[in-house]
Amino acid sequence: MALRGSVLVLRLDGGRRRLALLLSEEVRLGRFFSALDEDGVLVGFFTLRMEGDDLVIGLGLRPDLTGRGLGRGFVEAGIEFGRRRFDPERIRLSVAAFNERAIRVYEQAGFTHARTFDHETNGGVHSFVEMTRPVS
Ligand SMILES: CC(C)(COP(=O)(O)OP(=O)(O)OC[C@H]1O[C@@H](n2cnc3c(N)ncnc32)[C@H](O)[C@@H]1OP(=O)(O)O)[C@@H](O)C(=O)NCCC(=O)NCCS
Repeated sequence: MALRGSVLVLRLDGGRRRLALLLSEEVRLGRFFSALDEDGVLVGFFTLRMEGDDLVIGLGLRPDLTGRGLGRGFVEAGIEFGRRRFDPERIRLSVAAFNERAIRVYEQAGFTHARTFDHETNGGVHSFVEMTRPVS
């Protein structure tokens, strides 16, 4: 493992490949967005990319801010940002089936379950739910 500039270089095998991808500058720029509060303090991140007419989103609230009822507002803010920037027809995301808190927030934000699928990640196969919602 070595640090070159802002890129963490790892052996590209198994789950490490994904981490290297996440950290690689060319992928990070344009797809990964920091979410800041009014004081410029980091409160979380979004990943946003277009696939056809769909905006595919991923997100994370800063760990110490979770579980305080902030989830829906955070998700809505990211969607509004993505809507303006990418002008999609539909919003799509995937969430681990065990992540009931996130699924609850997505349902509150108007997402419905589209399908369930198995995905190999972090060295195991896990069940994921794909959820979608119209833009407005
Ligand atoms: C997913 C995430 C945005 C949710 O935001 P949050 O602020 O933590 O969630 P909230 O406090 O707003 O709670 C949302 C709802 O989940 C419920 N909830 C909380 N913990 C729960 C649990 N363990 N199981 C089921 N529901 C739960 C809350 O009661 C609330 O429901 P309510 O409005 O009916 O009371 C945030 O937790 C997060 O970023 N987590 C880490 C990364 C992650 O999971 N990302 C999503 C990957 S797809």
